[in-house]
Amino acid sequence: MVIKTFPALLRRRGCLFFAATIILVPFTVFILIVGPDLKIEQNLSQKLAECQMRVQYLEAMYRTKQEDVSILSQYLGLTAANSNTSDNNSVLSNFNSVLESLSPESKAIIKNLTMSSQQRFSSSLRLPTAYHFLPHLLDDPASSLKPAYLQSKGRTGVSIVLGIPTVKRDKQSYLLSTLDNLITNMDEEEANDTMIVVFIGETDLEYVTEIAKQIQQRFQEYCDNGLIEIISPPASYYPDWNKLRVTLNDPIERVKWRSKQNLDFAFLMAYSQIKGTFYVQLEDDILSKRGYITIMKRFAVAKTIKQDQDPWFLIDFCMLGFIGKMFKSAELPYLITFFQMFYNDKPVDWLLDHLISTKVCNWDKDMKHCKTEKAKLWIHYKPSLFQHIGMTSSLKGKVQKLKDRQFGKIPAFYPHKNNPAAQVRTQIMPYKSYTLNKAYTGESFFWGLLPQSADYLEFIFNQPTVIKKYLFRSGNHEHPSDRFYNTTVEVLPDQLSEESIVWQQYNTTTDGYLIIGGFNAFGIAEGNVDSRMGKLRELRLHVHSESENWVILSEIFLQDDKTTS
Ligand SMILES: *[C@@H]1O[C@H](CO)[C@@H](O)[C@H](O)[C@H]1NC(C)=O
Ligand SMILES: *[C@@H]1O[C@H](CO)[C@@H](O)[C@H](O)[C@H]1NC(C)=O
Ligand SMILES: *[C@@H]1O[C@H](CO)[C@@H](O)[C@H](O)[C@H]1NC(C)=O
Ligand SMILES: *[C@@H]1O[C@H](CO)[C@@H](O)[C@H](O)[C@H]1NC(C)=O
Ligand SMILES: *[C@@H]1O[C@H](CO)[C@@H](O)[C@H](O)[C@H]1NC(C)=O
Ligand SMILES: *[C@@H]1O[C@H](CO)[C@@H](O)[C@H](O)[C@H]1NC(C)=O
Repeated sequence: MVIKTFPALLRRRGCLFFAATIILVPFTVFILIVGPDLKIEQNLSQKLAECQMRVQYLEAMYRTKQEDVSILSQYLGLTAANSNTSDNNSVLSNFNSVLESLSPESKAIIKNLTMSSQQRFSSSLRLPTAYHFLPHLLDDPASSLKPAYLQSKGRTGVSIVLGIPTVKRDKQSYLLSTLDNLITNMDEEEANDTMIVVFIGETDLEYVTEIAKQIQQRFQEYCDNGLIEIISPPASYYPDWNKLRVTLNDPIERVKWRSKQNLDFAFLMAYSQIKGTFYVQLEDDILSKRGYITIMKRFAVAKTIKQDQDPWFLIDFCMLGFIGKMFKSAELPYLITFFQMFYNDKPVDWLLDHLISTKVCNWDKDMKHCKTEKAKLWIHYKPSLFQHIGMTSSLKGKVQKLKDRQFGKIPAFYPHKNNPAAQVRTQIMPYKSYTLNKAYTGESFFWGLLPQSADYLEFIFNQPTVIKKYLFRSGNHEHPSDRFYNTTVEVLPDQLSEESIVWQQYNTTTDGYLIIGGFNAFGIAEGNVDSRMGKLRELRLHVHSESENWVILSEIFLQDDKTTS
């Protein structure tokens, strides 16, 4: 099958250059004609740079396929030479059975290829592969490089792939809040051009499945549409941790931790490489700024326009650790191989630094020269787009207190100025001036003292209004537990008769409201309002039990039939 696609690939490559020419020629003509209109020109050169990046990415993919074919022919040569029906090596016999199942024509082609590849490879050099640096992978060649857990819809070709490595932590995990934050801060168009790959760096498949299930439950929509993918490595991907060399005079636990981190990053990058044009590595305990996807894409494309004079290798969207580091997917093999070569020797952030120094520093010159040259390849974007939330690192006992001072403040609330006009009231006492009314009009957020059972937050519309969607977000990043617990969303329709079918389909309160939803475990209540309900007189939140926490409403959004977003 692989062999059959090879001519197709050649055709595709031709196509690619053809497409590039088609794009390039009219663009140049356009620029010539339009001349003085700077904005259009800027726009076009942005598009052009984007195309260039995509071509680079597709070329890298093409080269990978070429390599596949080359490896396969080499392999076929070996297989044919050694093929022996009494050989029970599972890979070989699998392969032989595949060969057996092919049509006579395909067999002839493969035989032909085998013959020629034997001639071709008998005298050619064997270049190193991952197996040279990680020989233990050969103990289980069939699966040591295959995700043990894989949830994927097979999307590729997006602009930005976000890689999030996560491991088991003794204390609190922030993975779900991190994902929630990353998704909340992108819009649909951005999501359509993005993928999030979560790498669960554990080999206990039961644990991995449990975490994957939590992600799927919370983000079902985004797992279904392929925005989120989840992978985990097989146990055979890792070496025997007890056989590591002690390096840098570190305690053995630390050597294990940083060696594993190197291999984890390499796995995640190798998996993500074929998914999109740019790869951005994040961590599992971070916060992002709204619109970060577009900001990163624009900046990267702008830098790429000047690629010929100033090639970049890394754009850094956060000053900390390995957060917000963007690479071109086509260049990830440098990192992957480097991490594999030196995984036992240095921590990952040192390796990154060394790689870049190796590229540009000249030991005949001083450190200052080195620094200037490095800064050209390693571009810092300010202000930072990401920030840590975690205070405990997953390395036991290592408390992570670093905060990125470039990040600035995270908004404590998300305002909506177009909620339908309404009278707003609640029995819950506001703290200072954080009133419900200010939250409803988008000036601030609501912060209330200890909700009690049978407290209400009422939104009584000035005119009966059709509401299409509602969203209430409780808690914020500084006070994540100040949420609504055991609280329902209820509506009072203006006209709906109690005899109607719709009425029968909902649970009702004793005072005649229909219960249409409630807050989930993440402190969010959202949903569509059944259009058959018609205009509503009121929408309210109903607290059913006393809370031990104060409560924050950091987002209130009621979409009527006029507002669009
Ligand atoms: C195949 O295996 C048999 C029995 O193990 C052995 O006698 C024979 O030499 C082998 N043939 C090749 C080509 O390795
Ligand atoms: C190879 O495997 C088959 C079944 O899988 C078994 O019957 C046979 O004895 C095995 N041969 C050798 C040489 O191990
Ligand atoms: C085998 O390869 C040679 C040269 O690459 C070609 O001329 C010949 O037609 C091929 N034969 C088959 C059966 O594909
Ligand atoms: C996102 O993709 C979906 C499915 O392909 C499409 O229906 C939708 O219109 C897209 N949204 C935007 C804003 O591009
Ligand atoms: C009505 O309430 C019952 C019991 O609380 C619940 O199981 C059921 O799902 C509710 N039905 C609807 C339509 O909300
Ligand atoms: C929610 O409130 C009701 C009424 O007070 C109570 O019976 C129920 O146990 C509460 N549920 C939870 C999960 O706290």
